[in-house]
Amino acid sequence: MTRKEILGKTFELINDYQSSVASGEKSVINYHQPHQLKDKIDLKLPSKAGNYDNLFSDIEKYMKHSVHTSHKQFLNQLYSGENLPALIGEFITALTNTSMYTYEVAPLATLIEKELINKMCRIAGFTDGGGTFTTGGSNANMLAMMSARNKLLPDIKKNGLMGAQTLAVFVSDQSHYSFDTAANILGIGSDHVYKIKSDSHGRMLIEDLVKAIETSLIKGETPFFIAATAGTTLLGAFDPLDEIAEIAQNYKIWMHVDGSFGGSIILSTKYKYLFNGIERADSFTWNPHKLMNVPLIASVLLVKEKDRLLKNLTNLDTDYIYHDNDVQEYNLGKQS
Ligand SMILES: Cc1ncc(COP(=O)(O)O)c(C=O)c1O
Repeated sequence: MTRKEILGKTFELINDYQSSVASGEKSVINYHQPHQLKDKIDLKLPSKAGNYDNLFSDIEKYMKHSVHTSHKQFLNQLYSGENLPALIGEFITALTNTSMYTYEVAPLATLIEKELINKMCRIAGFTDGGGTFTTGGSNANMLAMMSARNKLLPDIKKNGLMGAQTLAVFVSDQSHYSFDTAANILGIGSDHVYKIKSDSHGRMLIEDLVKAIETSLIKGETPFFIAATAGTTLLGAFDPLDEIAEIAQNYKIWMHVDGSFGGSIILSTKYKYLFNGIERADSFTWNPHKLMNVPLIASVLLVKEKDRLLKNLTNLDTDYIYHDNDVQEYNLGKQS
């Protein structure tokens, strides 16, 4: 088979898959227990190289036994649907296969990322903001917490946490578990993540937030990070951003907005009011891969201060890759 025939056959399989899922002809899932699936499919690596016919047959089996997440009845996770231009973008990304560390290796991709970050910042009301694409909302939340920690204690990058003060984080009891994970990774500890009660709609209760901050201060801790949620995982609730911003400002605490799920609603003229006050936040996680049907993973962390990630995340010995040249500000890897 020629390369053209191989690619032609591949796209034929892709088109058949997408069309039959979109038309509803296929069910969402063809479920088997693990042992049944293992019996059906030979997973052993062959000792000899196969040919393209073997590959196409394997692809067909893989497609058959995948959950059809673009099916209109797929509601299991917080993403679904099909976005054809984005899918094509995904193919081109794989084809051009580049990392995003330096302008040298990803010239146009770098400019596209910077333009997207600027545009998304402007939408969030971060007039001189910055940011980075991440490997998911959990990672973006962690980078936001790390940025807040390193802004407060800049020496931590060099000295580590030994002897550092006890830091405290505030999230609602409906917040995503990634904040516990982040507190664990960043040495803050989940005992210092205060879970503020929420109302019957799942929105953080402001009086309880103030009480928790006061309690933490009495214990001698340093409150440094409040994460509001814009679209909670279970109820889709929006915390009152403006009221939380007021408190964050009064206590000089970094305010983060986790819009992993609901962030894209900021584009809706009807529901944009749910984001009132976001321009007062320090950072914002937004996952186009959830409500915008963009293929996994499309996730971004936006920060209000343009150079904040660069200041807080850069490591020291990177001369081998980041040369002193006139495109430094285009080398995105330093802030991711
Ligand atoms: C509110 C919220 N935050 C964070 C996340 C984590 O996002 P990701 O799956 O992209 O890591 C989710 C995932 O569902 C979420 O609902």
